[in-house]
Amino acid sequence: MNDAHGADAETAAMPLNVMEYEEAARRVLAPMAFDYIAGGSGDEVTLRANRAAFGRWCLVPRVLRGVGNPDLGTTVLGQQIDLPVLFAPVAFHRLAHDQGEKASAGAARSAGTIFIAGTSSTYPLEEIAPRAGLWWFQLYMYRDRDLTRRLVQRAEAAGAGALVVTVDTPLLGRREADERNRFVLPDGLSFANFLGTDVASMSEGSEGSNLSTYFRSNLDTTLTWADLDWLASITSLPVIPKGILHPDDARQAVEHGARAIVVSNHGGRQLDSAIPTLDALPAVVDAVAGGVEVLLDGGVRRGTDVIKALALGARAVMIGRPYIWGLAVDGEQGAQRVVEILREEISLDLTLCGCASVQEVKRGLVTQARCVENVG
Ligand code: GLV
Repeated sequence: MNDAHGADAETAAMPLNVMEYEEAARRVLAPMAFDYIAGGSGDEVTLRANRAAFGRWCLVPRVLRGVGNPDLGTTVLGQQIDLPVLFAPVAFHRLAHDQGEKASAGAARSAGTIFIAGTSSTYPLEEIAPRAGLWWFQLYMYRDRDLTRRLVQRAEAAGAGALVVTVDTPLLGRREADERNRFVLPDGLSFANFLGTDVASMSEGSEGSNLSTYFRSNLDTTLTWADLDWLASITSLPVIPKGILHPDDARQAVEHGARAIVVSNHGGRQLDSAIPTLDALPAVVDAVAGGVEVLLDGGVRRGTDVIKALALGARAVMIGRPYIWGLAVDGEQGAQRVVEILREEISLDLTLCGCASVQEVKRGLVTQARCVENVG
């Protein structure tokens, strides 16, 4: 049906941006699932701060540079991707859509970018890999080292291009919504990479979040740099620590063989009041002094966010919640649409910045804002 302006109602209802996808996802998801995906830890200071940090930088565009159709392509660890946006590891995609990680991996493939499959996926990695193009594997280190080693071997055998090891989660952050909801996976969903073992499901009956109890019981809470060495010793894949915020840790990571670094505070889900990732980025980039590529996640919702992160030294960014909102709304197509929205925004924003390619995005393109605006 056409409205007064001739747009049909369905088109008019299509989310126009990532934030509208979040609102649409809220309407279709079970509250426990929405809260789990959207939520942060504690007072959600870091969750909000990740977004706010982007508002503290302004772009200083160049003009009359004859930019036609900017080239969004780049490489990460030598792998060619069509835009500087990767799919971050996110747990339990089947909370959002029955096709779960298989659909998300397909969306990343269509978008021409890297999909990072998580340890806590709701399909086994062997079922996800054939749907992805380039893909990496995110590893949680379990106390049971044989189990961890076997998982790494399976990821290698299935064609993962790198191992992203999460280093900010010795314990799960306290997400109060999950505590209140006594978060648990719905019937039929499990830690599918561990089917047939006693860590395939989280036992119910915790006073609070059953996921928190699962992590406390099964993950290694005592990881050190020596464990990163151990990981590097058992795999030929590049090891990429995710969850680095301190420049000294970035230096140490490089000394311990990290091949790239992900500046991340786990989307504001771990230590609340941790520094926003965009604020942490410049010091980490300086610390590694070009020795390894630096990626960033946390709060990326707009093309201009991507450009600001690149200008401050990120090789590329990762999105997590945004593609899950797309997945919830419309499966693989929805996740793909979210990336297309970002691609269109980056392309337009690069043009308006006078940059013909992402390689032309340099530090001089950003300046710290004097009047800070809330970016929501
Ligand atoms: C798992 O990685 C989570 O953040 O819930």
